[in-house]
Amino acid sequence: MAIDTNAPGFRAMVGLGVTGVAAAAAIFTFPDQAYDWVRAVHVIAVISWMAGMLYLPRLFIYHCNAPKGSQQSETFKVMERRLLRVIINPAMIVTWVLGLWLAWHGDLWFEGWFVVKFVAVILLSACHGYFGGAVRRFGNDENTRSQSHWRIINEVPTILMIIIVIMVVVRPL
Ligand code: HEM
Repeated sequence: MAIDTNAPGFRAMVGLGVTGVAAAAAIFTFPDQAYDWVRAVHVIAVISWMAGMLYLPRLFIYHCNAPKGSQQSETFKVMERRLLRVIINPAMIVTWVLGLWLAWHGDLWFEGWFVVKFVAVILLSACHGYFGGAVRRFGNDENTRSQSHWRIINEVPTILMIIIVIMVVVRPL
């Protein structure tokens, strides 16, 4: 079976593999600085995940206006599918894997700030799941949600991101 190296999924897998090898190499090569290297890659993955989570609902807002079957609607379908598969999904996986490693390494499970952060991240991941379903529904011309719905939903990842970053940087609890 020939591997389609141009397929968006293939490039995402390569990106995930390279990030995994880089993180493992940093942990073994610089054991004393491993925590900071992993924290740095964690934040890079977070930025990619959030960029996608803030942009995807914007595409949904404009897609609501594109007539079904039109060239514009078909283009939005490709953009939404690729954004999800090549950027948002791999970035979420790296954010979770490295975040859990950091929490385990630092034994941070029962810190007040981390518990609130973790709940907010679970809500963000649920929002990710909802967006994944919406990409499928738009892809099948089955979206029933209005533009104003997507405008309101667009604020959810923003608010969760603000809570998460304040918790992990300021640690008010
Ligand atoms: C997916 C589950 C996640 C887990 C388990 C997790 C866990 C952690 C842990 C344990 C640290 C290290 C804290 C330290 O020692 O300073 C950290 C750092 C950080 N996390 Fe996460 N995180 C997750 C997702 C996120 C998300 C979604 C965001 C942003 C929207 C985020 C933003 C950050 C930032 C900015 C730092 C660096 C903080 C600093 O260096 O001062 N994390 N994360």
